[in-house]
Amino acid sequence: MNTVDRIKEMLETLKIFSETSNGVTRLPFTKEAELAVSYLKQKMEEAGLEVFVDASGAVHGIRRGISPRKIIIGSHYDSVKNGGAYDGIAGVVCAIEIARILKYETLFYTLEIIGFNDEEGVRFGTGFFSSKAFLGEWDIEKLKSQYDDKNISIYDAMKNWGLVPEQLINIVWQISKIRCFMEIHVEQGPVLEKEGVDLGIVNGIVGMRRYSIKIFGRADHAGTTPMNMRRDAMVAAAKVIEHIEMAAQKYLGSVATVGSCIVSPDTVNTVPERVEFSLDIRSINDDDLYAMEQDILIYLECVAQERNLTYEIQTKLEVEPAQMDKRLRAYLRDSILRLGYSSVSLNSGAGHDALPISRKVPTAMLFVPSKNGRSHCPEEYSKPENLAKAVQVVINTLKKINNEEDINNELS
Ligand code: GLV
Ligand code: MN
Ligand code: MN
Repeated sequence: MNTVDRIKEMLETLKIFSETSNGVTRLPFTKEAELAVSYLKQKMEEAGLEVFVDASGAVHGIRRGISPRKIIIGSHYDSVKNGGAYDGIAGVVCAIEIARILKYETLFYTLEIIGFNDEEGVRFGTGFFSSKAFLGEWDIEKLKSQYDDKNISIYDAMKNWGLVPEQLINIVWQISKIRCFMEIHVEQGPVLEKEGVDLGIVNGIVGMRRYSIKIFGRADHAGTTPMNMRRDAMVAAAKVIEHIEMAAQKYLGSVATVGSCIVSPDTVNTVPERVEFSLDIRSINDDDLYAMEQDILIYLECVAQERNLTYEIQTKLEVEPAQMDKRLRAYLRDSILRLGYSSVSLNSGAGHDALPISRKVPTAMLFVPSKNGRSHCPEEYSKPENLAKAVQVVINTLKKINNEEDINNELS
């Protein structure tokens, strides 16, 4: 089997570990996640790696180099609901293939492959679970105050999955021990396909904020309560949601999405008492992100006052926009040229573990074209041939990093 066939086979197998047959649903701390982790462990072992699962549920494979300082390559293994078979997991599979190809090579830096857990944040409305754990950004209180739609906290979900949340403290990275982080990921947008190129080098990644917003009104009879005497949480939510779309349109390159909404009591003949909805806002420009957030919050306050309603906002995620490392981007570009592949540089509108990590560790991302730019849906597809090209480019880049001048300094 060659690289293309191995990538194809791994992705086909991993696709099976889904909760539904409509696309892939592999949420964190579930049976499906457990099956994926056990398969990834097996593949990492076959690639000659020392394998373990950490306190966040991330799966690691290590190849010791001459130096204990690490180059980390990885992506996430969780998915959205009814998503595709490539988002995240394709990068984990490529990383395993990289380790397999380098199985018998002497490496200067230690190579660590990671399948990150819960990057998407779908289950708890959060995001970047393992990467934030590596950066020491979770505490027990936070784990106990974020819930899924069945009212299970992250803390309890971890325990039910056999993890010990208190041990998260033990997996915080020693930043000086890490040379860099690299992530291969499918583009999830239309740019690379439109440009007709093999690969994309990521310049920067959008900043993101996520909130859970609850609007509280009063449940009343839908037939007997006059329109001017209602405190309807649903109408208020609808007005705010429409404003959210307008607010995002004011700032070029910014986006805002309400992707989840729960109404209660969710009854045909009762005025809605409570509406809870998610808000995800993103921009490559931090000032725009802040301005858009303020715009939405001020409008929410006005609507609540006007309609005699109350509301609560819980911040679920806050990450500033980030630039990828210049030197690593140059290495990637040089490797692409030497291998005779084509590429363009682009920003990422999707979030990635590379985003929070890049604040602390030199980080680079390589994108693989997505068919019709589709992602977060069952139609998601990227050619295994292009994923195999990304593998070759990263191997070439690893060799450059392993040979760079400061190795002499490390040895002395
Ligand atoms: C992850 O795919 C995100 O951008 O939300
Ligand atoms: Mn992803
Ligand atoms: Mn995703």
